[in-house]
Amino acid sequence: MTTDPAAAAVAAVTSTAPTPYLDLVAVTRPARQYKHELLSALCIGAGDRVLDVGCGPATDLAALAEEVGPTGRVIGIDQDPAMVATARARIAVYPNVEVRHADAHHLPLETAGIDRARVDRVLMHATDPAAVLAELHRVLRPGGLLALAEPDWDTLAIDHPDLETARAFTRYIAQRANRNQAIGRRLPRLTAQAGFTIRTVRNVAAVLSDFDTAETILGLRRNTDRAVAAGYLTPEAGRAWLDQLTGGETFFATASLITVLAAA
Ligand SMILES: C[S@@+](CC[C@H](N)C(=O)[O-])C[C@H]1O[C@@H](n2cnc3c(N)ncnc32)[C@H](O)[C@@H]1O
Repeated sequence: MTTDPAAAAVAAVTSTAPTPYLDLVAVTRPARQYKHELLSALCIGAGDRVLDVGCGPATDLAALAEEVGPTGRVIGIDQDPAMVATARARIAVYPNVEVRHADAHHLPLETAGIDRARVDRVLMHATDPAAVLAELHRVLRPGGLLALAEPDWDTLAIDHPDLETARAFTRYIAQRANRNQAIGRRLPRLTAQAGFTIRTVRNVAAVLSDFDTAETILGLRRNTDRAVAAGYLTPEAGRAWLDQLTGGETFFATASLITVLAAA
């Protein structure tokens, strides 16, 4: 069972079916907890104009719509047409929500027209996270709030009697499984460099205490195959690694999700 916030942090490392994967992660208790904390931190008021960059399949749009009420406006943005289509279908009942197909590096929004913005596990995929943050600073009004949540894959640790194999596996995740593996630790610096005033920085470390949850979130089997194919593990070490992890002994894995609240 997952016992700590932000297991979802351990984000889309390996999804082959993104929408079901994102849905599955979003309903875990840790994901609900950190998403709720981000929502509270934004202090959204009735009538606000709120932006969710990298909104995925509308994971958080309904909650934002409830916060802004009928006089407010929620804009979700995603670069993946399939995500946009799913999100639009899901938010069709909310007249105050729209989903746009766009790239976070070039937001199709006027300057200083947004009161609140959130970016949840998106900068880890961005080609230029600093440019995305600069765009967010441009579209937020002065004093408008930004909430960010990004993992730091170098913090992934999985208990195993063979520490060297565990290190080889996590080195594969840290070096090869995502574009911006260390975005979590860079978040405060990049956010400040974009012109924001940092309000809070938190580390909501996920604790995964059973294999099945870790498999859902981390894709342990799939990534072990990939780590073997990439030469990080021998086939024998890969088999022994998984045999041990699935063998019923106490399971423990952890990774950090860094959240930042900042004012434009
Ligand atoms: C890990 S998912 C998170 C989705 C959602 N924020 C959530 O919490 O469920 C990342 C999302 O960011 C989107 N994305 C990645 N890079 C993007 C970019 N440059 N511009 C817009 N969306 C982007 C992906 O298409 C995907 O839907």
